[in-house]
Amino acid sequence: MQAPQTAPKGGEPILKVMDVGVNFGGIQALKQASFQVRQDEICGLIGPNGAGKTTLFNTVSGLVPIDTGQIHFQCRRIDSMAPHRIISTGICRTFQNVGLYPEMTVVQNVQLGGHFGSQAGFLATALGLPRARHEERELHDRAMKHLADIGLEGIAQRRTGDLPYGTLKRIEIARALMSSPKLLMLDEPAGGLSHGEVEELGGMLRRLRSESGMTLLIVEHHMRLVMELCTHVVVLSQGMIIADGTPEQVQANEDVIAVYLGTPA
Ligand SMILES: Nc1ncnc2c1ncn2[C@@H]1O[C@H](COP(=O)(O)OP(=O)(O)OP(=O)(O)O)[C@@H](O)[C@H]1O
Ligand SMILES: [Mg+2]
Repeated sequence: MQAPQTAPKGGEPILKVMDVGVNFGGIQALKQASFQVRQDEICGLIGPNGAGKTTLFNTVSGLVPIDTGQIHFQCRRIDSMAPHRIISTGICRTFQNVGLYPEMTVVQNVQLGGHFGSQAGFLATALGLPRARHEERELHDRAMKHLADIGLEGIAQRRTGDLPYGTLKRIEIARALMSSPKLLMLDEPAGGLSHGEVEELGGMLRRLRSESGMTLLIVEHHMRLVMELCTHVVVLSQGMIIADGTPEQVQANEDVIAVYLGTPA
């Protein structure tokens, strides 16, 4: 692997993935994967289909246990924490295949993103007790604010299942914002979007990052978006990190070129 000449710009490391290995019954989805995401950066995680990108997101968000290595977030070890505890440390993610409830309204789906920190409890909510009602109103107001942030307040009461795919991807981002993440991880946010929607998404993510001070880690196949948006790019291939640097360094890396274009016979 070619070493990067200069480190990508960014603050202190916020996420440290160290020697992480994941084995699915003989398939080594991640092999000693190590990289860091720095505070305030927009970091792109790229690689061919099956490289291990979603698996890596699943390990950081606690959905897939790691077999080897460690994961640290802001100096805390998180690789053995339950998913809801990881969210409470300040990490939230969206899913490659949209995970919204089609029968619910848009605002109801977004509100769900705030329930991890609920104080009222299930019984109080089910019985409609005052404390729970107050919490629901507060969640509703925050959900409307996040929908407004991404220009979707006008469709808040629409049934989610009636909306186009590009809109669903944006609703998922609004839902993730409900947990006020310090690190937002997006799995293929541009997947299935039209050219115009991809442009809009890039502008929206840049604005969200600068307004909220969030750090972003983005898995994406849309190379132009990655190269324009990200300040740091990490490349996975067959479970291994094969390059890590600025977009320019990664684009010029021979191993990356070989993986994307194929090595001549
Ligand atoms: N739950 C699972 N059980 C068994 N194998 C799995 C599981 N999840 C992923 N894999 C395998 O692990 C490897 C990495 O998959 P992963 O979904 O992480 O790739 P990816 O880089 O996200 O690919 P894509 O770009 O297509 O989304 C693949 O070989 C995949 O088939
Ligand atoms: Mg994936």
